[in-house]
Amino acid sequence: MRVLVTGGAGYIGSHTVRELTARGYEVAALDSMERPALQAILKVPFFQADITDESRLDAIFSEFKPEAVIHFAALKAPGASMNEPTRYFRTNVNGTLVLLDTMVRHQTKAMIFSSSCSVFGTPRILPVTEEMPFSPESVYGETKVMGETLLKWFDVTKGLKSVALRYFNAAGASLDNAIGEDWNTTSNLIPLVMKAALGKTESIKVFGSDYPTRDGTAIRDYIHVVDLALAHVKALEYVLNEKHSTAFNLGTGVGCTVQEVIDTVRKVSHRDFRVDYVGRRPGDPVAIWADTSKAGRELEWKAQYNLETIVSTAWAWHSTHPDGL
Ligand SMILES: NC(=O)c1ccc[n+]([C@@H]2O[C@H](COP(=O)([O-])OP(=O)(O)OC[C@H]3O[C@@H](n4cnc5c(N)ncnc54)[C@H](O)[C@@H]3O)[C@@H](O)[C@H]2O)c1
Repeated sequence: MRVLVTGGAGYIGSHTVRELTARGYEVAALDSMERPALQAILKVPFFQADITDESRLDAIFSEFKPEAVIHFAALKAPGASMNEPTRYFRTNVNGTLVLLDTMVRHQTKAMIFSSSCSVFGTPRILPVTEEMPFSPESVYGETKVMGETLLKWFDVTKGLKSVALRYFNAAGASLDNAIGEDWNTTSNLIPLVMKAALGKTESIKVFGSDYPTRDGTAIRDYIHVVDLALAHVKALEYVLNEKHSTAFNLGTGVGCTVQEVIDTVRKVSHRDFRVDYVGRRPGDPVAIWADTSKAGRELEWKAQYNLETIVSTAWAWHSTHPDGL
């Protein structure tokens, strides 16, 4: 089975490429960014291309003939999306449209799509089930809603099957310490705490310490990137066997506070660092975690790794690769 992974040089994409190749899939990665060191580790054909470039996609599909696509390529910072809406809509929505259209032209059967818990905005009920209405609070979140809408209509009109995976907060690094997150391109909490622990920044800022939570800081569902990678393989098997489009929420089902993350980093790293407690950030939900029962039931998938493993693998990665690969 030939699988094209867009955004394959990125954080979750690269972990998924490894998981797929370990399970015998024939994989090619597509990314707008060239990362030779990572390509050497991944050992799969690599196409440097932009997903909005229709003629380039046509050439790649003619050459590799993918039977399925796992589509990670996107811009991913909700804050930045509010300053650059056009760029976000062009890459995340138009890019997905061009890709789906190319898949139809080349009779590619199925897509696994990187959606996000940000389609839900601030949830009114916890944990968050797949049936929760969409209520995005950023351009980024809206692009993921629009991506899911495209999937729905490409199934109705063209029979293209898909699974949308709505990740909660991806974190951690590969268990063999070969690949991990690039902290230069992320605004995620765990790499930022790592930077503070390694003295790369003066302190870590915590936005809001007066929330109605157990320690006053916001609650998120941190899911290990290797657990996510495996969920993509399961989702691919699901869509190819069941020939049915659907969506799953992917988290651990357990919410951790920002303070608990900081405490775990202190414990794992044996380092202390300054924490600045500042005001709440507009648009940040107080708490959000996933109801993972649908993924458990239908994908037979459950997250294996807890916060301690997430932080330990992230620490191993960042402390040995401060400049990335
Ligand atoms: N990291 C998270 O916590 C998280 C949570 C929810 C959803 N997601 C989604 O998961 C996907 C992967 O996220 P990630 O954390 O691995 O991000 P990432 O930035 O590490 O990877 C995205 C990759 O896409 C590539 N890309 C961007 N624009 C492109 C274009 N026009 N053409 C080709 N390639 C392009 C980038 O070069 C990058 O390598 C994204 O769609 C993101 O929105 C991530």
